[in-house]
Amino acid sequence: MSNYEEILDEHKGLPGGIIQAYHAIQKKIRFLPEEAILTAAKVFAIPTKDAYEVATFYSYFATKQRGQNVIRICESAPCHVAGVNEIVAALEQELGIKMGETTPDGKFTLEFTQCVGQCQGTPVVTINRKPYVDVAPENIPAILAGY
Ligand code: FES
Repeated sequence: MSNYEEILDEHKGLPGGIIQAYHAIQKKIRFLPEEAILTAAKVFAIPTKDAYEVATFYSYFATKQRGQNVIRICESAPCHVAGVNEIVAALEQELGIKMGETTPDGKFTLEFTQCVGQCQGTPVVTINRKPYVDVAPENIPAILAGY
């Protein structure tokens, strides 16, 4: 029996059940492994392709292992014009990784996100959902030091 069968079974037959089940799995282990997606296809009796599509359609789901702390940079228009590119460059330089990657020690993952509703303080970065507003490149080392 797959490790994920129990969680998937609990959501079987519910509206949006597969999405809820993916959320539950991701909450538990911070990403959606291939085994979970393949098991979902079986449990929900849908083609594997469809199970993958649900997992990759929502940017919230990660199909690759993530770091302990997930840093998301808002790339929606208001944040974009407020200088997202400089923030991305500062984070990539400080962590030595590119967007979408995880540091070799597994501590940080860098991702983009859409508007997180903090547009009064652009540009916005969230770390594990905690928002940081009015971020400037020179603030990055101090923000990261808190993790
Ligand atoms: S556009 Fe970035 S938080 Fe709204």
